[in-house]
Amino acid sequence: MMQDTQALLEAMFDPEAFRASGHKLIDLLANNLGQQLQAQQPVLQWREPFNEDVRWQKPLPQQSLLDADEFLKVLQADILPGNLAIHHPHNLGHQVATPLPMAALCDLVAALTNQAMAVYETGPSATMLERQVIRWLSTLVGWESSLVNGVLTSGGAQANLTALLAARQHAGQHIWQDGLGDHDKLRILTSEHSHYSIARAAGIMGLGASAVIPIATDAAGRMMLSEMTAAHQRCKQAGEKVMAVVANAACTPTGSVDPLLTIGAYCHAHKLWLHIDGAHGASALLSDQYRNTLSGIALADSLVWDGHKLLYMPAAVSAVLFRNPKHSYLAFAQDASYLFSGDQEAVQNYDGSYRTLECTKRMMALKLWTAFKLYGKEGLGKLVETAFDHARRLAKLLDTAPDFEVLMPPQTNIVCFRHLIPNATSDTLNTHQHTLRKRLVTTGTFHLTQVDLHGHRWLRTTLMNPFTSEDDMHTLINSIRSIAEEVG
Ligand SMILES: Cc1ncc(COP(=O)(O)O)c(C=O)c1O
Repeated sequence: MMQDTQALLEAMFDPEAFRASGHKLIDLLANNLGQQLQAQQPVLQWREPFNEDVRWQKPLPQQSLLDADEFLKVLQADILPGNLAIHHPHNLGHQVATPLPMAALCDLVAALTNQAMAVYETGPSATMLERQVIRWLSTLVGWESSLVNGVLTSGGAQANLTALLAARQHAGQHIWQDGLGDHDKLRILTSEHSHYSIARAAGIMGLGASAVIPIATDAAGRMMLSEMTAAHQRCKQAGEKVMAVVANAACTPTGSVDPLLTIGAYCHAHKLWLHIDGAHGASALLSDQYRNTLSGIALADSLVWDGHKLLYMPAAVSAVLFRNPKHSYLAFAQDASYLFSGDQEAVQNYDGSYRTLECTKRMMALKLWTAFKLYGKEGLGKLVETAFDHARRLAKLLDTAPDFEVLMPPQTNIVCFRHLIPNATSDTLNTHQHTLRKRLVTTGTFHLTQVDLHGHRWLRTTLMNPFTSEDDMHTLINSIRSIAEEVG
């Protein structure tokens, strides 16, 4: 190796340079975290995407600069300010966690140690941490088992696909090997409010997105059992097989929790696979105050639970859990012998890739394991309770304001509402909500989302940040009124 190449490679991996940059990076991030929590910067410095796209286009760097300070400068001056300030108390948009700083440090460990995790020997500790986290989450559901009954995946969409692949295989044991064949009439019954990943999973699985039959919800946004039963009967009459019922805990648009107990009882009586998409709300299990919201969750055959939502983890980490541990192997009924050598029975229990789409994956359990170790069920439960309490507080404030309408009392931490204009048509009101949201977001005043339900548009807030105060809520209401006056 030429001397300058050798020097370059050594500089790339230099532990002392890593230490020095690391200290500076942590200082920078800690300052940024503090500023966001104290609302010392806008929640979003809006930049038009077209202009940004042009501005970021630069020639591919050819020479090594080896100047970490240069990177830190750009990070501080440009990259961080250009991002959504996730820890800002006015960040009320998506269901994404304001991540616990210690969990972020764990992700740094995961990145540098880069445990591939496909098989036990490519991440022994990583594997054991994941197994422990899966057991803890299962215990919270009420499933006590010494056997590991699930796996961590990169996100709820992939976790839903994994669970539904298992349900499909359960419905027809030869599908993995032989394809759908005469199983092409498999159907999935789910709430009209289900996350798009359910329909996407049906498409990926070759059933076609139209295999998903949307079930109407009641005024509280909960899937109606009577409608579900009728749809099941129609399927039977048409010679179609329901391979899964998917219930939400909670659904994305409104945070409503489907009636899990009655749906679960129906599924058990009719031998239907019940999948519960708890990506958003399963964390209510941590709270003594709110776990009743999820009564019946243990009746699920499969359950998805996102860590990067109400478990306050950095993205992405989701759990897919199965009531019957054996079902955790149904999704990927494949044998890749170059990976999975040796005694199948023994190996299967410890090699994660039997259960996931991912071959290489991050050591994503470390952050969850550490958070449970540091803060316990009690501490993490307090985060959930705070978020749910905040949603109730905001809904109450809006309810008492004559110029606002709340869609429904919050069941989790999502509040949908709209600002009213006297004598306005439905179209005018819809456009008004859009204008309000756009103005709030592009001025960096608040970040929130909007949702269209049955022809009506609602502003949608997700109360994730534990430090969003009642004052912030009043500021939101007053900001909306000011914009309405300006544009009115
Ligand atoms: C109910 C529900 N399921 C699944 C998902 C998808 O999860 P992810 O974004 O982790 O892929 C979401 C995302 O918001 C969700 O709200």
